[in-house]
Amino acid sequence: MGAAMERMQVALGDGRGYPILLGDGVLGEGGLLAPFVGRQALVVTNPTVARLLLPALQRSLPPTALDVVRIGDGERFKTLATYAEVIDRLVAKGHNRDTTVLALGGGVVGDVAGFAAATYQRGVGFVQVPTTLLALVDSAVGGKTGVNHPGGKNLVGAFHQPRAVVADVATLGTLPSREFGAGLAEVVKYGAIADAGFFAWLEDNAADLLARDAGALLHAVRRCCEIKAEVVAADEREQGGRAILNFGHTFGHAIEAATGYRRFRHGEAVAIGMAMAMELSVRLGRAKPADADRVRGLLAALRLPTQVDELAAAPLREAMGMDKKVRGGQLRFVVCDGLGACALTADASEGAIDEAIASGLAG
Ligand code: NAD
Ligand code: GLY
Repeated sequence: MGAAMERMQVALGDGRGYPILLGDGVLGEGGLLAPFVGRQALVVTNPTVARLLLPALQRSLPPTALDVVRIGDGERFKTLATYAEVIDRLVAKGHNRDTTVLALGGGVVGDVAGFAAATYQRGVGFVQVPTTLLALVDSAVGGKTGVNHPGGKNLVGAFHQPRAVVADVATLGTLPSREFGAGLAEVVKYGAIADAGFFAWLEDNAADLLARDAGALLHAVRRCCEIKAEVVAADEREQGGRAILNFGHTFGHAIEAATGYRRFRHGEAVAIGMAMAMELSVRLGRAKPADADRVRGLLAALRLPTQVDELAAAPLREAMGMDKKVRGGQLRFVVCDGLGACALTADASEGAIDEAIASGLAG
């Protein structure tokens, strides 16, 4: 008998939508992907993930003319050149408009493959098979695709929703612990911005999550996907409310930039960024000091950083464009209105932002 599978639905406007097939060990089940793939398909993956999981994906596909392209492993390969490699393969193998592109990997593979699917012959079918915690709870759901440009991250891209997402927590068994931790930061984010009960559950189950207990992972991935699906359904193209998913990211991106993108995984920088965003929320009178303490406490319990050493405020301010933007009132932050609630504000004073930054600088 196969592993139990839950089917959640991402409901978009105009009757559009797609399922998230959630389970522990569902990838590899015969017929799983038959409803979403036609006679032709291209799997986009990387050598690391292909070695671990391509055979399981192949078992889930119907008889299909299958091509596989392995792109380089890592953020530095999320480029227009890699995107062109995928398109070249689609052309070389004669894929037509009915083909399906499947992404097997983390957020890098998902973003590149999705952008290729969004643009090849003006858009072909796309299926996400995420294999990192970050991809399971965030990047595989919601239809943002794209690549980086020397001028900035994610500068080129498109919205292109998948036909289905296979969310199999068993794929996380081989994930290196830093990658797993980076995903946990995004999990904490959902609790802080949208669900106080889930936040409390995370506090109670931090040890099981760190141990990658399947039941704990299923609960966490389910709740994060539900929240993300709700946010995306309300604002598919980020005209407004979807921006709450960037909680902690304004500070986090600045920390990544100011440390040359080498010191922290994105999720680790977001963890420090969330601690700063909580401090900002307290300074603006929107959250209680006890809320900020709980966020810092949960991040620490999950072995995530809440402060950065050997970094001064000046490069962080610069990376945030503060000197240029704050005066014009353009710098917007997601602030926490007490655990489980949040809002966007353009009203953060320079002093409050400085205090928030200072709270996250150690030493
Ligand atoms: P990643 O894709 O680079 O994967 C991290 C590492 O884990 C890689 O080395 C990969 O080969 C390895 N790996 C993947 N699955 C594995 C497994 N099951 N076992 C062992 N190793 C495995 O990084 P990521 O954190 O998944 O994604 C980061 C990217 O996601 C960034 O480019 C970011 O911009 C993007 N992102 C996109 C969205 C979106 O909405 N589209 C949202 C958040 C982040
Ligand atoms: N990760 C942010 C978003 O999907 O909107």
